[in-house]
Amino acid sequence: MRETLVAGIDSSTQSCKVVVRDAATGALRRFGQAPHPDGTEVDPEAWWDALRVALAAAGGLDDVAAVSVAGQQHGLVALDAEGEVIRPALLWNDTRSAGAARDLIAELGRADRGDAAAGPAAWAEATGSVPVASLTVTKLRWLADHEPENAARVAAVALPHDWLTWRLSGATSFDTLVTDRSDASGTGYFDTARGVYRRDLLALALRRDDVEGVVLPRVLGPGVEAGRGDLAADLGHLVLAPGAGDNAGAALGLGMVRGDVAISIGTSGVVSAVAPEPVADPTGLVAGFADATGSFLPLAVTLNGSRVLDAAARLLGVDHAGLSALALAAPAGAGGLTLVPYLDGERTPNLPEATGSLLGLTLSTMTPEHLARAAVEGLLCGLADGVEAVRAQGVPVERIRLIGGAARSEAVRTLAPGILGGPVQVPTPGEYVADGAARQAAWVLSGEPEPPTWTTAEVRIYDGEPAPQVRERYAARRHLVTGR
Ligand code: XUL
Repeated sequence: MRETLVAGIDSSTQSCKVVVRDAATGALRRFGQAPHPDGTEVDPEAWWDALRVALAAAGGLDDVAAVSVAGQQHGLVALDAEGEVIRPALLWNDTRSAGAARDLIAELGRADRGDAAAGPAAWAEATGSVPVASLTVTKLRWLADHEPENAARVAAVALPHDWLTWRLSGATSFDTLVTDRSDASGTGYFDTARGVYRRDLLALALRRDDVEGVVLPRVLGPGVEAGRGDLAADLGHLVLAPGAGDNAGAALGLGMVRGDVAISIGTSGVVSAVAPEPVADPTGLVAGFADATGSFLPLAVTLNGSRVLDAAARLLGVDHAGLSALALAAPAGAGGLTLVPYLDGERTPNLPEATGSLLGLTLSTMTPEHLARAAVEGLLCGLADGVEAVRAQGVPVERIRLIGGAARSEAVRTLAPGILGGPVQVPTPGEYVADGAARQAAWVLSGEPEPPTWTTAEVRIYDGEPAPQVRERYAARRHLVTGR
């Protein structure tokens, strides 16, 4: 009997990746990828082009029964009444809307509770998250304030994964524009706990009182078919799945359950946990998102992930293996050298205008080894703060898994247990976001209430002596330079 194939797509910040897997077992059959342009403002057409190249590299979709797209969250794809993209998409790591986030927080606080200072709590209760520059709602406000003529033309708002799924469907009418709970929950105008859009918040952001007519993608439940592929493009045989935000995709790909925490170190550093109940953190450290199975996915996200290591390696003139070897050759705590790695501003804590700081330079610490160690430790300390913030929301943290590009670094794996204060599982490096999308495609195809059980990745366990002193010094120095 011929096997049934499904495809999972990860349209991430840096590239598009496609896996083609056997729907029944999850066995990998084919893979393809293509790069995305750099920058925090990107023409969505470039994602579509990369998707087609990656699909071709993965052997195409002719023999594939269902496809699902997972993608970078939050990016603003604003469409006009003809369905055309109004301007290049503003991505999750574009911090120009930091001021808009501050304004929106104060405005809702005043409107809802008569006090600007009550804004964070009002937003957390309304949507599950306190807006930061990453969230779509702040990008809409930025558009209203800086490009009012574009804001006035907005007829529909999509996120990267919604828009790509729509393109696969032929994009003939807004009726087929769909999304899922996980990505909707990152917009800032979706009430994650109750599963409904908050059009009043959309209106607030866009400074428009006619938003009833603005199309927002229909939010599909987990495992629900999103439609069919484009007949005209010979994709009519394809079942489309709702897709997901990339973090929810990774959780599905890893088969995460309650108590599991994933630390994903890609362009962003993400700490996410599967939780049965919604989270609403008024401190804003934890975003109360949804997952792709009907549960919730509280997460803490740093803007400074694997690129901290990229930058350190570049500075030291070594590759990643070289950086790792240097870091492992230095003592714990890098002899007192600390890197607060806010190289791209920061989101958790919310310091969009921050810069990085290197503290504790002496004649003995100003060496490549110490600097490499400080880079790895600084990256891990930021993520350890994220784990703590998630735990502080009452979310169980029982098993930590390390994934993403930087999880390939031996130094990151080796130092993580000490800094996180416990053992860490490192699954075989893989494309977990694309895998989650593929698993969702197989789920939709099966029509079953639960996703199919696929063989889970093998893990290697890393353990080590806790090194609380490293985090303590990091926290003191972070406080020194940022006041937080
Ligand atoms: C999540 C977030 C990032 C992007 C990039 O809130 O901003 O993880 O999804 O992949």
